[in-house]
Amino acid sequence: MIKVGIITASDKGARGEREDKSGQVIEELIAEIDGEVVSYQIVPDKKEVLKTKMLEMIIEDGINLLLTTGGTGLAPCDVTPDATLELIEKEVPGIAEAMRMESLKITDRAMLSRAVSGVIKETLIINLPGSPKAVQECLEVIISVLPHAIDLIQDEVDECAR
Ligand code: MTE
Repeated sequence: MIKVGIITASDKGARGEREDKSGQVIEELIAEIDGEVVSYQIVPDKKEVLKTKMLEMIIEDGINLLLTTGGTGLAPCDVTPDATLELIEKEVPGIAEAMRMESLKITDRAMLSRAVSGVIKETLIINLPGSPKAVQECLEVIISVLPHAIDLIQDEVDECAR
């Protein structure tokens, strides 16, 4: 079982003014790889608040995978990648690159997501864009590789080739 945390970055969501459909999409898709959501928060688009909530989930809930949704764009309030970059110890650029590359085949606006991915302690953090459609499209690109990525982080892989 993969222990998953979800953080939805949304000022409106945090004020209870918008239903979080993107978090639901993540929960449904992640079940395909035996991922279980053990922690879920809707957090306002504030860098320090995001960092605090992310760290809380990583340290207190012991999650293997932290998926964020929202706040990856260019608006002044979009700070999820900036919060993530301040936390991670190793960047995993290929995950965000793969999502953008495949998403560009669907919409040229994919290039407007600044999503990043990386490792802190034994947790893989991946930023996803905010809309449910974008979450589904991006997660579908990377989902098959996540169990292996998590095994690698936990140093549970002897032989990587297949
Ligand atoms: N990626 C996919 N696959 N599908 C989409 O519809 N929307 C884009 C982009 N990435 C989109 C996508 C748009 S319109 C924006 S502005 C950026 O993600 C950032 O979105 P965010 O600020 O909600 O994170």
